[in-house]
Amino acid sequence: MTAKRIDGKAFAAGVRARVAEEVARLKEGHGIVPGLAVVLVGEDPASQVYVGAKGKQTVEVGMASFEHRLPAETSEAELLALIDRLNHDPAVHGILVQLPLPAHLNADLVINALDPAKDVDGFHISNVGRLGTGQKSMVPCTPLGCLMMLRDHLGSLSGLNAVVVGRSNIVGKPMAQLLLGESCTVTVAHSRTRDLAAVCRGADILVAAVGRPEMITGDFVKPGATVIDVGINRIERDGKTKLVGDVDYASAAEVAGAITPVPGGVGPMTIACLLANTLTACCRANG
Ligand code: GUN
Repeated sequence: MTAKRIDGKAFAAGVRARVAEEVARLKEGHGIVPGLAVVLVGEDPASQVYVGAKGKQTVEVGMASFEHRLPAETSEAELLALIDRLNHDPAVHGILVQLPLPAHLNADLVINALDPAKDVDGFHISNVGRLGTGQKSMVPCTPLGCLMMLRDHLGSLSGLNAVVVGRSNIVGKPMAQLLLGESCTVTVAHSRTRDLAAVCRGADILVAAVGRPEMITGDFVKPGATVIDVGINRIERDGKTKLVGDVDYASAAEVAGAITPVPGGVGPMTIACLLANTLTACCRANG
């Protein structure tokens, strides 16, 4: 069996097109322009690439992009003052503080200073609690993107066994909450899980978010399962730098029913969902 390849790049383009249509309608009908502020502290090279891509795609869908690039030695007080300004700026509907922050800044404190209604990452403690209790919230972008692809491929997820490998606050835990909300039977596995392969083989839906290159091989996969690979790992192979997921695509694709590739799977969906969340925040702010 060769699995169907779930094309996240095409799916994300569709999401962006729908967001752009809605943004145009808001502009023409109500004179409202959704705005996203992105805050980057320091010069982390990967973060600079992500922030650049976010700004570019924000403008492409017709939204206003506000980039705040601050020096690495920015104090907590300075950063909190900026967040306070953005919280009160009516042109800003979404705020994203790029992580990781430099070590001298307390990320929890900074994230929890955001207005929860503008927290398009869904990381504020109030949004985490609301997601966990099934209330309307901002949903973290990567798990939201995974859920959209799962729903598109499988339709109803009700009653399916889902295994999420990884327990991070950004992906693993919110992914598990979302799948529970879809009435899946959810297992969260992690680095201490005993006989991880056997646990994974029970999954109709297998989400890999561990950050270990190609750790999930074909013998972890139940025949016909849907495999979502959240991993983005840079490795050296044959003298070249290569991007690979947490799943060994070649062996897993022989067993799975459907699988997301890396690159071109979950990755493009994350920014598309950030734009969708910004639109949602704008619509909620304007009734
Ligand atoms: N750094 C890596 N991924 C993310 C993300 O989804 N949001 C933010 N704010 N920072 C990140």
